[in-house]
Amino acid sequence: MINRTICILLLLGLTGLKTFSQDVIQNIGARKNLSLNGRWNYIPDPYENGYYDYRRAPFDASASGKGGYYDDAQPVNKQELVEYDFDHSPTLAVPGDWNSQVESLKLYEGTVWYRRQFNIKPVSGKRYIIYFGAANYEAHVYLNGKKLGMHKGGFTAFQFEVTDKLKDGSNSLVVKVDNTRKQDEVPTINTDWWNYGGITRDVYLSELPETFIDNYQVQLGKSNMRQIDGFVKLNGKNKAQSVAIKVADAGISLSVKTDTAGYASFKIPVKGLKYWSPESPFLYHVSIHSESDDVDDKIGFRTIQTKGKDILLNGKSVFLRGISIHDENPMIPGRPRSEADLRMLLTWAKELNCNYVRLAHYPHNEKMLRLADEMGLMVWAEIPVYWTISWENKDTYINAQKQLTDLINLGRNRSSIVIWSVGNETPISEPRNKFMGALIDKTKATDDTRLVAAALELHREGHTVHVDDVLGEKLDLVSFNQYAGWYWGGTPKDIPTYHFEIKYQKPVVISEMGGDALAGFHADENTRWSEEYQEALYLNQFKLLNTVDALRGMSPWILVDFKSPRRPHPIYQNFWNRKGLISETGQKKKAFFALKNFYNEKQKQYPAITAAK
Ligand code: GCU
Repeated sequence: MINRTICILLLLGLTGLKTFSQDVIQNIGARKNLSLNGRWNYIPDPYENGYYDYRRAPFDASASGKGGYYDDAQPVNKQELVEYDFDHSPTLAVPGDWNSQVESLKLYEGTVWYRRQFNIKPVSGKRYIIYFGAANYEAHVYLNGKKLGMHKGGFTAFQFEVTDKLKDGSNSLVVKVDNTRKQDEVPTINTDWWNYGGITRDVYLSELPETFIDNYQVQLGKSNMRQIDGFVKLNGKNKAQSVAIKVADAGISLSVKTDTAGYASFKIPVKGLKYWSPESPFLYHVSIHSESDDVDDKIGFRTIQTKGKDILLNGKSVFLRGISIHDENPMIPGRPRSEADLRMLLTWAKELNCNYVRLAHYPHNEKMLRLADEMGLMVWAEIPVYWTISWENKDTYINAQKQLTDLINLGRNRSSIVIWSVGNETPISEPRNKFMGALIDKTKATDDTRLVAAALELHREGHTVHVDDVLGEKLDLVSFNQYAGWYWGGTPKDIPTYHFEIKYQKPVVISEMGGDALAGFHADENTRWSEEYQEALYLNQFKLLNTVDALRGMSPWILVDFKSPRRPHPIYQNFWNRKGLISETGQKKKAFFALKNFYNEKQKQYPAITAAK
């Protein structure tokens, strides 16, 4: 008995120690990639019998032989999993969630095994990484029967180096994906969005030089329109190199020397730049050239800061005309599967006359951020520290912080991102304040060029709404979700009777407000679920919000109806949250036009910020 336990502990130790995914490479899309998107064989495994033996001991070392998951080196567990036959198993599209592809997996939460075979002729002297845009929630990855590692977090990218694990010819990539919700994870067990499982974003095999450009930042310094502050980081044996940073259209060409760790930072004085703004989302072609690698990017330059109750974009006061968006294509309904799906969502936001979007409640696809750069939409980007997280669990904090730094690393060169959010509607307590406070400090330490926010807690006394959440002290904005006219009872005409008592002299950005309406259901403005009710709710909300003198932005909940397991009403919901301004079939509700008109008025109050030099 003792031997066996030691074996298992050893096995776990081995797995635990070396197999967490690496920090991801910057700008994967610009690298030499073999796309591994497409049809992957899959095997649902509700009891995880492909991972644990009947004694619930993990087999998990590496695969040998067809369908097996046993490490030849571990004789104690040698047995063939004949039931796991990928060759004859059905397939799923990657990227894509399994819930929207297979009726029987619609509400499935558990493990699904994926397998993708691909052919490659590795080039000597080159390095290879396998990159996943996202897989919800916990992924264990194997190549040719050998464990590469695991990753937690359904919305952040991860990668593994496979240079010494690739075969010349056919390779077999196997991924165990488990979307089981657990209390101590991030997000925790209760959310108001569909727990889509699967490999939900692009997968690449990237071929890189031995020493490659791993990470870089080329952005204006904190509130400094006259200087680019940046860095470059090389990965490989030959770390000390000359690296050139070029912004051709701006006449910028700088050469720096990386140190023995492959790192170099730089400051470039600039003048005559075309600054990025929603009205003129100008992107420069930026190229970085080391002695062994080259990377091209499209980057906008803008500054964002607060001054008293104002938010300044490129030094000018701006109003964030926003809308909240989930990472879901309602037409599927499921996780977006292409850039076109993402562009559809942002095009709707532009039609609403938005200049800003809240990408809720978790990191969205890098492509969404690049589209926002291109289309001229400022972005609130967030990690899923949502509702009742396990505040006192150390691993939960490490997990949340990792998702935060992964998000910041992914978006560090995106001019569209102006706000990092560390969480949503988290109940006040000492452990929560400590947890969230640490995340805020980490955000500022990692990137001080953007604003930091969170959807704060409120408390009401009658129709007085108090906004004095202690976290507000540390944040740049006062943001909160308020549901006057919906969860607060009453009817739309009661909304203007509310009054906000806001403790902090900072810009106010309403992170959520709204109410449900079933598209096509028409009644009087006091009949809930009708389009008229939702429209009246918005019109009265505008009256209330116009009383907030520090109001500098908002992102009503939400652009389009979205799937939620918390919404079973058989007539009005059918597992859809109906707070969208657009229905799942793309039908614009009356409130869509009410908000558009409100934004047209707001736009007149805040003059356009064009590409001033
Ligand atoms: C909350 C929450 C959202 C949710 C919304 C709603 O404030 O942040 O995730 O969907 O309210 O109840 O519709």
